[in-house]
Amino acid sequence: MASSSFLKLLTLKPLHKPPSSSIIINHFSNMKFTFRSFSAAMSPPSTAVMYDQEGPPDSVTKMVELPPAEIKENDVCVKMLAAPINPSDINRIQGVYPVRPQVPAVGGYEGVGEVHSLGSAVKGLSPGDLVIPCPPSFGTWQTYVVKEQSVWHKVAKGTPVEYAATVFVNPLTALRMLEDFVDLNPGDSIVQNGATSIVGQCIIQLARIRGIRSINIIRDRAGSDEAKEKLKKLGADEVYTESQLDVKNVKSLLDNIPEPALGFNCVGGNAATLVMKFLRQRGTMVTYGGMSKKPVTVSTSAFIFKELSLRGFWLQNLVSSAKGEECKSMVDYLLGLARDGKLTYGMESTPFKDFHIGLDKSLGKLGSQPKQIIKF
Ligand SMILES: NC(=O)c1ccc[n+]([C@@H]2O[C@H](COP(=O)([O-])OP(=O)(O)OC[C@H]3O[C@@H](n4cnc5c(N)ncnc54)[C@H](OP(=O)(O)O)[C@@H]3O)[C@@H](O)[C@H]2O)c1
Repeated sequence: MASSSFLKLLTLKPLHKPPSSSIIINHFSNMKFTFRSFSAAMSPPSTAVMYDQEGPPDSVTKMVELPPAEIKENDVCVKMLAAPINPSDINRIQGVYPVRPQVPAVGGYEGVGEVHSLGSAVKGLSPGDLVIPCPPSFGTWQTYVVKEQSVWHKVAKGTPVEYAATVFVNPLTALRMLEDFVDLNPGDSIVQNGATSIVGQCIIQLARIRGIRSINIIRDRAGSDEAKEKLKKLGADEVYTESQLDVKNVKSLLDNIPEPALGFNCVGGNAATLVMKFLRQRGTMVTYGGMSKKPVTVSTSAFIFKELSLRGFWLQNLVSSAKGEECKSMVDYLLGLARDGKLTYGMESTPFKDFHIGLDKSLGKLGSQPKQIIKF
């Protein structure tokens, strides 16, 4: 009656008092057995931050309970441990990011978890392994995620979860931008605005590792000396607030640092103009974010007489390219630096139940705040 594979699914036990969900069969001549009705492997129920329409993140996102999900043969069920709130997560929920999930959707894009259970065909992973979606994958703001094995990349035990959770979007952006635009040699310099961001902090340290010096621009704020000190401890050579650069010749402020050939802009407006002012003849400014929501304006003379180049960077292009697979070794390299204490950045953990407090901080409602890491 039953094929051998089907038989493997039966839980055979002598019949005494059959549980109500069991079916009695008269399988072998005079012997009676019960088997439980067939049910697929399922994840535990998941608590998730979901939105069913795009809009202001603080009003459209809700904490919901999701029913157990089926774990198919190639699937891995991961118990999430930590996930960040990145500016691009916010932009996706707002509906202004070019690549975003269809609603209703669970928020989040990167994160880390441990393997909870595996589909029958999964090889090379075991319960308890630390894994990240690599490249990232939508829907990390929930307690259990079920996705195909190909989504998950195992990371070394002992990797601090905050770093595993955040390694892809920002540190990888910093790494690629230092490599992909201008050939830099030890002794060269770069200039950047938004230096307090995670990308900015990573640029400082990754540049330092290569012997490249950094000129950093931050927003004016109460306690700017403290912010400068923190960046200098990471290896920043110079840190200026925007108002300090309100001088005729910004380069006159530099001591013994060569004019930079490469600049990074994630702010726009005046902060982008300041980056361009530091650049040397034929320098390149790479724009990768627009935190001030102001456009980049370049003077005609900077184009003509200084021959500046303006470029853009979007990590998604790397993810979609043939280099997508290579991202895994880049991520391993970055996590190795994090484990060795050579790559570090400021973060603040927020318990999942307080997600909306972390969201408010990420939205800038409470002034400048460290990167929010949701802990499940
Ligand atoms: N193109 C890409 O592929 C790519 C990849 C990764 C990240 N990004 C972009 O990189 C940027 C930094 O991301 P992150 O996650 O590293 O940032 P983050 O750690 O969340 O920090 C936010 C940064 O933005 C600054 N900021 C916030 N509001 C601002 C405003 N109104 N005007 C000026 N600065 C403001 C903050 O400065 P304070 O310290 O002064 O508050 C802080 O430096 C974002 O624009 C993000 O979208 C782009």
